[in-house]
Amino acid sequence: MGSTYFDQVSEAAAHLRQALAGRAPRIGIVLGSGLGAVADAVQDAVAIPYGQIPNFPQSTVEGHSGRMICGTLGGTAVMVMQGRVHAYEGYSPAEVTFPMRVLGALGIRAVVLTNAAGGIQQGYSIGQLVALADHINFMGWNPLTGPNEPRFACIPGAGLRFFDMTEAYSQALRVIARQAAQEEGFSLEEGVYLATSGPSFETPAEIRVFRTIGATLVGMSTVPETIVARHMGIEVLGISCVTNLAAGLGATPLSHEEVFEAGRKVEHRLAALLTRLAPRIAAHVDGKA
Ligand code: HPA
Repeated sequence: MGSTYFDQVSEAAAHLRQALAGRAPRIGIVLGSGLGAVADAVQDAVAIPYGQIPNFPQSTVEGHSGRMICGTLGGTAVMVMQGRVHAYEGYSPAEVTFPMRVLGALGIRAVVLTNAAGGIQQGYSIGQLVALADHINFMGWNPLTGPNEPRFACIPGAGLRFFDMTEAYSQALRVIARQAAQEEGFSLEEGVYLATSGPSFETPAEIRVFRTIGATLVGMSTVPETIVARHMGIEVLGISCVTNLAAGLGATPLSHEEVFEAGRKVEHRLAALLTRLAPRIAAHVDGKA
């Protein structure tokens, strides 16, 4: 009743702050399809179902649990979102990015956005993790359409109507992630993620177009969250898990089960990477403060 979107975000954040009793998260982590078990690596975890958070959207997709897990990863206070909502479920752009606004209101300075993605670039293997160097917004909408709300800014100078997206995915965090992956014994390539609105997978002709315009990965999430995070001045690390070869590139038809299963196989590697990364990301954002 008369409450604005900003008020609704503030209310959700206030509820979480109370539930966390002073344990402020330093970093947000969003887990994509089939990658939910990363939450098991969180120590001293307190899990809050989305349904208990005022105004919070609920995921309807299998493989997206719908809980906020607050605890520590590698000794760093994190807030892990186990499950996200998508526009194809019928949610508005404002609802899709509501959780990211709440993370911003809780004071995070960096977010790791993970997702399941189809591999467009030749040579990608199933289960490979790829750091996002950039994205292409092919969703047909932008979550910031509408009046600008400068109060969402997390750092001075953020919250602008027009803002730079040259480094949507932090170069510094990519360097840190590549180093951590190497220590874990694998190499983290970089790719360009193209987001469609879904929910249908792409046609082979669409994939040929996407390759031609520079995409190496395709998925149905992440881009709205990245845009909103950058609006607030939050640094973004994007990590895709290649769960399948994109349409027309593999021998079998695409299915959600395939995506989900591939995610399950790599979630332990992702958990190890994130555990190693969390303290370094925190040190990086602290160094800038
Ligand atoms: N296309 C779109 N989204 C996806 C895919 C894909 O091939 N795999 C996992 N998410």
